[in-house]
Amino acid sequence: MKVFCGRANPTTGSVEWLEEDEHYDYHQEIARSSYADMLHDKDRNMKYYQGIRAAVSRVKDRGQKALVLDIGTGTGLLSMMAVTAGADFCYAIEVFKPMADAAVKIVEKNGFSDKIKVINKHSTEVTVGPDGDLPCRANILITELFDTELIGEGALPSYEHAHRHLVQANCEAVPHRATVYAQLVESRRMWSWNKLFPIRVQTSRGERVIIPPLELERCPGAPSVCDIQLNQVSPADFTILSDVLPMFSVDFSKQVSSSAACHSRQFEPLVSGRAQVVLSWWDIEMDPEGKIKCTMAPFWAHSNPEELQWRDHWMQCVYFLPQEEPVVQGSALCLVAHHDDYCVWYSLQKTSPEKNERVHPVRPVCDCQAHLLWNRPRFGEINDRNRTEQYIQALRTVLKPDSVCLCVSDGSLLSMLAYHLGAEQVFTVENSAASHRLMKKIFRANHLEDKINIIEKRPELLTPADLEGKKVSLLLGEPFFTTSLLPWHNLYFWYVRTAVDQHLGPGAVVMPQAASLHVMVVEFRDLWQIRSPCGNCEGFDVRIMDDMIKRALDFRESKEAEPHPLWEYPCRSLSKPQQILTFDFRQPVPLQPVHAEGTIELRRRGRSHGAVLWMEYHLTTDSTVSTGLLKPAEDEGDCCWNPHCKQAVYFFNTTLDLRVPLGGPQTVTYTVEFRPHAGDITMDFTLSDALDRNGPNPHLKRFGLRVQQQQVTKTSTWTPCCSSEVREEAVPEQFRRRSRIPAGRRREPEAQCVTRHSVSILAPGGSWWQSPGMSPASLGKTGFKPGGTLVGTL
Ligand SMILES: C[S@@+](CC[C@H](N)C(=O)[O-])C[C@H]1O[C@@H](n2cnc3c(N)ncnc32)[C@H](O)[C@@H]1O
Repeated sequence: MKVFCGRANPTTGSVEWLEEDEHYDYHQEIARSSYADMLHDKDRNMKYYQGIRAAVSRVKDRGQKALVLDIGTGTGLLSMMAVTAGADFCYAIEVFKPMADAAVKIVEKNGFSDKIKVINKHSTEVTVGPDGDLPCRANILITELFDTELIGEGALPSYEHAHRHLVQANCEAVPHRATVYAQLVESRRMWSWNKLFPIRVQTSRGERVIIPPLELERCPGAPSVCDIQLNQVSPADFTILSDVLPMFSVDFSKQVSSSAACHSRQFEPLVSGRAQVVLSWWDIEMDPEGKIKCTMAPFWAHSNPEELQWRDHWMQCVYFLPQEEPVVQGSALCLVAHHDDYCVWYSLQKTSPEKNERVHPVRPVCDCQAHLLWNRPRFGEINDRNRTEQYIQALRTVLKPDSVCLCVSDGSLLSMLAYHLGAEQVFTVENSAASHRLMKKIFRANHLEDKINIIEKRPELLTPADLEGKKVSLLLGEPFFTTSLLPWHNLYFWYVRTAVDQHLGPGAVVMPQAASLHVMVVEFRDLWQIRSPCGNCEGFDVRIMDDMIKRALDFRESKEAEPHPLWEYPCRSLSKPQQILTFDFRQPVPLQPVHAEGTIELRRRGRSHGAVLWMEYHLTTDSTVSTGLLKPAEDEGDCCWNPHCKQAVYFFNTTLDLRVPLGGPQTVTYTVEFRPHAGDITMDFTLSDALDRNGPNPHLKRFGLRVQQQQVTKTSTWTPCCSSEVREEAVPEQFRRRSRIPAGRRREPEAQCVTRHSVSILAPGGSWWQSPGMSPASLGKTGFKPGGTLVGTL
């Protein structure tokens, strides 16, 4: 069977559908999953093991048989722990078929087949009784169904059902309890991910200030949680306003409710300031006494920061208050955590809402369009004063009083800068209805609706009439397009420049005038773990899982680079950054491929985990904006990355395997090719260990990597629906989050495919993830019909 896969096409700036092998779907999911990261999470695994041992002992001490229900068994790890701890039998439930199949093999390989029954079902479909999946209710409930927000992977409905139908009253539960913590802060940096700040422009006629529309000011923002590696945010970037407040706990050993609720905590602000952001994390206690605790606390709230465990499958949450509010030191306030079955959100109130209050403020949903068009990094980018200043300076050098500007970038404020800096006429192309509406609002708020012409059209369809018969003297782009996922996807600007060639006047200036692709070989401090084989996890052989991930990664002869926001993932440069391709925007896109090859010398000793690639835009001859490295690496190689962009990471699989010894100085040779007809960049890297100079080099590794556009899966049930109007309604807010399965994709979803138990989310630019843990009941609540409904927009 063939399935359809969408892929971002930088030549058109849109997503196209291609037929792919049916295995493509599952391979993509496994390849980008967090299973490896979970298996490397020593702290999590150890604590689960301790908790499971203690729970089995308690049951045995009561003279009972230990019957375990493991919901979401994945590799079967927790079930194998339970049997090793003395459990009599385990029912290991896994909804995702490839994982359930893998669990069967892993369980068999480790010699537990007689004690573990893997059931490939969603837990809400599991039956108990003489003909059921389980002969009787279990007395130990083990799960690991938590995401960064705790409840976003459907833990509450799964527990609610399990207690009702699958486990005995007063069962043991591992984990026993979870607690969500919150801390109120003021942070200009984080607030800049959520609101548009006024932008000051010095012009020949004095200062002009671009202001956000009132609607945007009042908008509660994007409904999804913002999950980040909070430990990477400098303490200088926020002021703590409250103590760490335990907001609510869930006791997993008792009946759990997935109904909406709110929990309030009174506190006295530690200092006066502006309450803007709630930082949040959780811990899980594996035993009733709370002695075995696994915490996601950031370093300043950690009882033992030395023991901080790095992990990517669980991070910390940033919630934005609907509005910023002044708070006064010492004057009592209430922080309220609201949640439904999948989502958490916060509000600040003067008094505590009554206990068991049934009326909850509505979950914040963007009603201004900006949070649909601009994701958080994009808000941050637009609010970055230094970056804006650089564009202003560059514009000053190219603008003339008679300039006719055409601006092409999604939802960009460049057109307003060009107008204020004195362009005679400014046009801006806004391709989508959403960006058209948003820009209209912003122009209106700034009294520019009559000054800047918005053209709602694909750039290649522009006619002289759209430009009022004028020729363009300045073509502008940041460039930024919402469909871009990998750095070079913004080369769409070059295709647009080519498409509008006929509208450019003689001597027209293009800004940026060129772009270049850069590469650097790095050693990651932690990120390597998400793609590294584990081998043995707490004494269990999980190589079957490693092989499965490797097969998925190698599924295509072409491997892909992955987008990662590297400011969250420290790394050391092992080579100098190197420019490997240039793209001259003053000329149209060439017809022939652009090819380059060379060698990257590795200058520092370390493990070459991969190559980082990014684009730099040369606005003018002497003004460059980097989307990657912001300054030369420090003495030790530590890197400073652009905090608003994702860089492309190409992992060198062999060096990720810790069993491969660390070589001496190495060189990496590369060949890269930009293929104009496809808009993609193909690459080959060869990593050679220079230690072994005599005779054949045993460590010579060849990485065939063809970096293509990100690809997305479209199962047969996808039916793209074409109205951008339904975007917000189409995607339930609970899916607007970073999923652990697969990891590393953080774009806001645009479309989704709901099958019986899975939801695939398509993000702008074609990334996707699938959540296999959705129950029909919870899907029902979101308004989607289980059983093959597609809802979404492209
Ligand atoms: C985070 S993984 C944990 C894997 C394993 N238990 C471990 O700790 O390493 C969660 C797994 O649960 C599965 N899952 C989530 N909700 C489920 C449910 N209600 N019923 C069955 N499987 C579920 C997902 O497909 C995924 O494989």
